[in-house]
Amino acid sequence: MELLEEQRENWGSRGGFVLAAIGSAVGLGNLWGFPYKLYSYGGGAFLIPYIIAICLVGIPMLILEFSLGHFTQRAAPNAFRRCNKRLEMVGWWGIILGFVIITYYPVILAYCFSYLWLSIKGIFNGGALPWAGVGIEGVENAEGFFYNTYLGYQESFSLGSIQWQVFWPLVVAWFLMYLCIFRGVKLVSKIVWLTVPLPWLMLLILTIRGLTLDGAIQGLAFYLNPTWEELAKPSTWRFAFGQVFFSLSLAFGVMLTYASFLHRKSDINNNAVIIGLSDFATSFIAGIAVFATLGGMAFATQQAGNPVGVEKVVSGGPGLAFVAFPYALAQLPYSAWFSFIFFFALITLGIDSAFSITESVLASIVDKTGFKRDIVLILMSLVGIGFGVIYVTSGGLNWLGVIDGFINGTWGIAFLGLLECVALGWLYRIDRLRLHANERSDFALGQWWNYLIRMVIPVILGTLFVWSLFDDFSGKDFLVKEAGGFNWPNVVGLVVVALAPVISIVLSLIKSPYPEDNPESAPLETKGQSGSFAGLVLSLVSLVLLVVILVIPLTIGVCEVLIVIIILTAIGGLLLANSILDRFSKADSRVSVIAPIAGILSVCNISVALATVLIYITKQVKPSQVVHTDELSGASYIILSVVFLLIVVGLGWCFYKAMSGAASGESVPQTPEDQAA
Ligand code: PHE
Repeated sequence: MELLEEQRENWGSRGGFVLAAIGSAVGLGNLWGFPYKLYSYGGGAFLIPYIIAICLVGIPMLILEFSLGHFTQRAAPNAFRRCNKRLEMVGWWGIILGFVIITYYPVILAYCFSYLWLSIKGIFNGGALPWAGVGIEGVENAEGFFYNTYLGYQESFSLGSIQWQVFWPLVVAWFLMYLCIFRGVKLVSKIVWLTVPLPWLMLLILTIRGLTLDGAIQGLAFYLNPTWEELAKPSTWRFAFGQVFFSLSLAFGVMLTYASFLHRKSDINNNAVIIGLSDFATSFIAGIAVFATLGGMAFATQQAGNPVGVEKVVSGGPGLAFVAFPYALAQLPYSAWFSFIFFFALITLGIDSAFSITESVLASIVDKTGFKRDIVLILMSLVGIGFGVIYVTSGGLNWLGVIDGFINGTWGIAFLGLLECVALGWLYRIDRLRLHANERSDFALGQWWNYLIRMVIPVILGTLFVWSLFDDFSGKDFLVKEAGGFNWPNVVGLVVVALAPVISIVLSLIKSPYPEDNPESAPLETKGQSGSFAGLVLSLVSLVLLVVILVIPLTIGVCEVLIVIIILTAIGGLLLANSILDRFSKADSRVSVIAPIAGILSVCNISVALATVLIYITKQVKPSQVVHTDELSGASYIILSVVFLLIVVGLGWCFYKAMSGAASGESVPQTPEDQAA
């Protein structure tokens, strides 16, 4: 495949692209998802899997998506198709999951619009907010307002009636998204100069205000004091990795599509690191703002003689943004103003994430069919609102939770991320993407990046997948209730995620009206057969042994020896297959098909073996008894310093690289106009 030299519509400037990608990444997931996930899954301890996930998986995969999108100049499905005809479905799969997100993400924006409106009314009413209240009864009041008055919520999964007070803001959210993208990415690159810095400013105000409240440290102790035992649970790791994928908008084809609009000479590697670290910084600081404020609330209620502890209000899901935080603000001075700032921040954070998904679905359809962009966008918005109706009914919030859980859970994005790496690492000459990225970036990646994509990330995600799968099915009532009957919400959730690959296969079979992008090349000589065969034998040996220990009851000692042998033989098979690909996957030869089979099989074997070991080890860990203190522990101070160091040094280094590239004249023009100048 030749590098495409034609120029697609483009972002205009490096800043435009970087901000748009940050705009997509930084969203509701940062201010709302990250803080409560961190709090619920081990406090500061959660940062260990999270930082591993960002550095080992998130940023390398961001580079992968950027270089693929930039190299092929196509949205996800066609980009994958250009690499290998059979891979188009991988692209569609992500797009379909993205489409599912775009049916519910704007619903949360709709809540924000309503709360913003109520805050504005509060400002003009002398500070009166409908969710305000005193003491623990006040918390009930805030809950009552959100669930009963506003959502008309019912606990059952039957939908109930449409709640028009949520529906109309939903229409507003879609209309705003439409306005942002209907003119294409040039306009988006201007809008993000507003929608990215503005929420950061709001967040800064909320953080400074939170940290200067009495009781802030008490709140931070809830946020950061680590509970190490949580690391023994697969859910902690799953949520950390899932959150990284969701937060970096990875595997939905969004980053890939955005990069397809990037100018031919634009940096890739450095941009990816800047975007990954900025997203992390935003999440972490958002957590500080939220928990410091909750600490302030705890202190204020204590002083008022009607104490409400942080643990009493904080809860997962929408409760944090629409009950706990608004309630906490209502206990403090200038509550209507700060509520306004908070919901305004949420809207500006969320809107560019929401339209990034719409854009990637839109670009995929337009690239595939050649239909007119304007018409597809209007139709998509209507379909989006149509599906959104499900979530604005009385039982809608329950469905929102279930569907979101499945998209971000074991079966959703992390699995898709795994597939993406396996597909591009083993079934395509991944080195081409690395060289493409290196050619135009502020710094170059070594071969290690190929190995991360081909071996390390698949093994990490594969292990996590098997470990979580075991966890899902060992829990009671996952699909079938013990008392009889199906657990319908989970069945529906599973059907939704299982339909994605089916629909994507169908879509990839539909012929595009365009001439084939990837014409068949002349037959090449196949090389590396004997080495591949040896790799396959090794991986088969480990597979057989794996079946033996899973099926035949053996003593612990024998199992331990066998597991070591399984892992070693599979690693042998993996490395052999990898070296065959390195040696023979070249422009003038074709590598034997056995090599990828051996490699992928080895990845599966290692993942199952490692997951088995993890299940065994973590069973021994006693469940933790979380004891909260009001003081920040020593470990928390260390965690705080490490995170700040990582962010400041990391971003400093990136900017230095960007600047020194420019100073030495290596900086490349980003637009055709720059080039002419
Ligand atoms: N990254 C966004 C957030 O953190 C959500 C998102 C997911 C956007 C997937 C695009 C694709 O809120």
